[in-house]
Amino acid sequence: MRNPRNIGRPLAIGAPAPWIDIPVRPSRMIHFFDPSNPRMAVKVPDIAKKVDIILANLEDAIQLQNKEAAREGLCKIARETDFGQTQFWSRVNSLDSPWFLDDMLRIVAEAGDKLDVVMIPKVEGPWDIHYVDQLLAQLEAKHQLVRPILVHAILETAQGVANVEEIALASPRMQGMSLGPADLAASRRMKTTRVGGGHPGYLVREDPKEDENAPRATAQQDLWHYTLARMVDACAATGILPFYGPFGDISDSLACEDQFRNAFLMGCVGAWSLHPNQIEIARRVFSPPPDEVAWAQKVIAEMGDGSGTVMIDGKMQDDATVKQCKVMVELATLIAGRDPEMAKAYGL
Ligand code: GLV
Ligand code: MG
Repeated sequence: MRNPRNIGRPLAIGAPAPWIDIPVRPSRMIHFFDPSNPRMAVKVPDIAKKVDIILANLEDAIQLQNKEAAREGLCKIARETDFGQTQFWSRVNSLDSPWFLDDMLRIVAEAGDKLDVVMIPKVEGPWDIHYVDQLLAQLEAKHQLVRPILVHAILETAQGVANVEEIALASPRMQGMSLGPADLAASRRMKTTRVGGGHPGYLVREDPKEDENAPRATAQQDLWHYTLARMVDACAATGILPFYGPFGDISDSLACEDQFRNAFLMGCVGAWSLHPNQIEIARRVFSPPPDEVAWAQKVIAEMGDGSGTVMIDGKMQDDATVKQCKVMVELATLIAGRDPEMAKAYGL
């Protein structure tokens, strides 16, 4: 266990001091692109204007022969792009891969002053985060960075899920976590072949009827509920941000929206977008609905100092509902500062 007095101190001489609170900015979508693909690279400045987070992907989905081109593409894009208020992240290769070390050495040297967050895949326990934490401190010191680079873990191994609370607590650099349903399914030996979403075979069925030939209704269940809930609790308990990860069936916008909304309602701040048409879905789903924000404002106004109870439209309000309403209004205010269309819808 680290000495609590050292938590706010850098891990290397000359590195910037860690943030104690995670800087919270709108983070409705993490938009993935392949920096080895020149056709995608030219679109980055335009896409960056439309998303909250743009992420240069170096890991899965990048072909082996393009791993170095992706790393170099990231460095070039970072040098040439003004990201404005949009966060710039990278998903590096996993710690056990032959590319991780060079990914870190190169991108911190070339793009460390632009990089907000490094996403680490296949995190298994706090020891992975401790290693990345120390390495980043050394590199920050070497390159005289003044702003600490944050760390985001993908929860995508069975061992990672078993250690989720310890991962969240492993460093003040921890910014958040994403659920990685594809790798997690493989790691758990789940019998699925999808990237996130439901499965028609995972269901509950109505009891038999008197007429044994009468149809019995079924309802598909959410395969990810348990893991997402554990991840949200681990993140909320440690003051970091939970995200749903990828939804692979790009053609099924409706199911993607449902998956994103479940995550939003459960406490996630955003999800990954793997295709431009998922950007708009995430934007819509992870911005609180304007009518709910208006309701929340009304409850806060009518509850005054928050004590006691009042009835509004037949619904009991008290200190706890005011707290829920504040979550909604604070998020809407944060988003309104970045998204003029949503600001208008909220009247903020
Ligand atoms: C994401 O990386 C996943 O494995 O789902
Ligand atoms: Mg994965």
